[in-house]
Order: sequence, then structure tokens, then C-alpha cells
Amino acid sequence: LQDTVTLNNGVKMPWLGLGVYKAQEGDEVVRAVKSAIQVGYRSIDTAAAYHNEEGVGQAIAEAIQENGLSREDIFVTTKVWNTMQGYETTLEAFETSLSKLNLDYIDLYLIHWPVGGKYKDTWRALEKVYKEGKVRAIGVSNFNIHHLEDLLTDAEVVPAVNQVEFHPQLFQKELLEYNHDKGIQLEAWSPLGQGKLIEDESLKAIAAKYGKTPAQIILRWDLQVGVITIPKSVNEHRIAQNADIFDFQLDGEDMAAIEALNQNKRFGSDPDNFIF
Ligand code: A2P
Repeated sequence: LQDTVTLNNGVKMPWLGLGVYKAQEGDEVVRAVKSAIQVGYRSIDTAAAYHNEEGVGQAIAEAIQENGLSREDIFVTTKVWNTMQGYETTLEAFETSLSKLNLDYIDLYLIHWPVGGKYKDTWRALEKVYKEGKVRAIGVSNFNIHHLEDLLTDAEVVPAVNQVEFHPQLFQKELLEYNHDKGIQLEAWSPLGQGKLIEDESLKAIAAKYGKTPAQIILRWDLQVGVITIPKSVNEHRIAQNADIFDFQLDGEDMAAIEALNQNKRFGSDPDNFIF
């Protein structure tokens, strides 16, 4: 459960994290994050836009105390929202996130979406906070190959991570290979297709074979294709279930069968047609 991948700057990041998109600020997010840490999660993925950074911060502080952990044991990701992109505004947004999370550093800070004309200045701000040691790694989210190509023409620091929508119906093979070639770790948001993929009959059949649930099959598939995964749940049983994926291995035939479910289907927004 605490298996990690080493990012391109040497920082270790857990393969599995808890996503908290749509987890309500206050009680709901606090309970979700605390129960995740209690069952062994060591990575939490939030964003300014989720409006729950305060609850995430509170939960982390309490969980550290209650489980005898230290700050360094938890990997915290947050993201700068689109309306705050630009150099100065991103520096401000970063400080706001730090203070809401009540932390003195962030593990991974991401550009949430590639806002045209803005993301290069935003990236310079990320490079600055990275060089100042306020964040251990910087990266992007929802970047397609052409966005990365463009960013890399002037970037001093290569993004450590690219977090994108990725699941069996959206197996972004070309993007996965491109990121791999550039040393950028791919990370999956909505790995369960917002929960809709667990009804898939072929995933159910594979799940029965391994004595696992379809959700566990999908999350295990992520790890085996080399993608960090951050399923969202606010339910303690599903939070625990989603973490129980380190004791089995999908065989090649099943890996291929899952890959064959690809339909290039998005449940979320398309980065190339996003209304910013
Ligand atoms: P809940 O928070 O009530 O558990 P994704 O991460 O792909 O966006 O999926 C998140 C959605 O899937 C949420 O609606 C979440 O609901 C649901 N979900 C998360 N884990 C599981 C699971 N193991 N089985 C069924 N549904 C799940």
C-alpha cells in the first residue's frame, strides 16, 4: 500500500492515493481523509477548485497525531485553478493553498488545466516555488502532447507528473508513451470512470476470477500499466477496498482484455475543448 514510484527529481510518490474531488468541505472530507490514512493511504489529492483544502489539512493534522505519523509520511497534492493562472496570481494561489491546508510545504503542485496563453507564466511561478523549496515536485494536469511540447520549449524544470483522465474506456496509450519517454509520470483521475465502469460485464468476469471487485481490477491495471491512481471515495468501506490491490497480479491476457475496452471515451472535460 505504501509502494512508491520515484519521480524524475528523485522524490518518491505513492502509487495509490485518495482523490477528494466532490468530497464536501467539512465533515465529509475530514472523515474520508482520516479513514484513508488509517487504512494505510499515504497520498491525498486535492485542488483549490475542490473547495475542501481546509478539511484536508485538518484531517491530515489529526491523522498524523492519532496514528503516530509525521508530516513527511503523507504526500499532499494540490492544484492552481484556472482563474488564478499567470505568474503573480499563481504565487498568491500557492500561498492561499498552503495556508488553507495549514502546511509549510506541498509535495506536488500542479497546473489544473492548460489555460491557453497562461500556462507558461503559471509554470514559471511553479518553478519559483519549487526552487524555493516550498514544494517537493511540480507538474501539470490535463495536458495533451501538444501542450507538453509547447511547455517544454521554455521550461527549466520538466514536469514530474501529468495527471489526466485515464481508465479502461480512455486508455491514452500515445499520451502514456509520450510521458514515459519524457520522464513524466502519468497519474489517473477518475480511474473508475466516475464509478460507472464497475458495472462492465467483462470487468466483472475478470474480478470473479481473482476474487476481487471490478474497482480493484481497474486500479490494479493502472499500477501494472505504470500509472499512479487516485480513486475518489468518501465511503470508508470503498476507501479500504480500493487500497486492497497489492496482493495480486493480473495476467497478460487480462491486461490485454482490459486494454481492449478502450473507446476513447471521456466522462470529464476534454482539454482541447475546455471552456476556460
Ligand atoms: P463514493 O464516494 O460514494 O464511494 P472516480 O475516482 O473514477 O471519479 O470514481 C469516483 C466515484 O466512484 C464516486 O462516485 C465513488 O462514490 C465511487 N466509488 C469509489 N470507489 C468505489 C468502489 N470501490 N466501488 C463502487 N463505487 C466506488
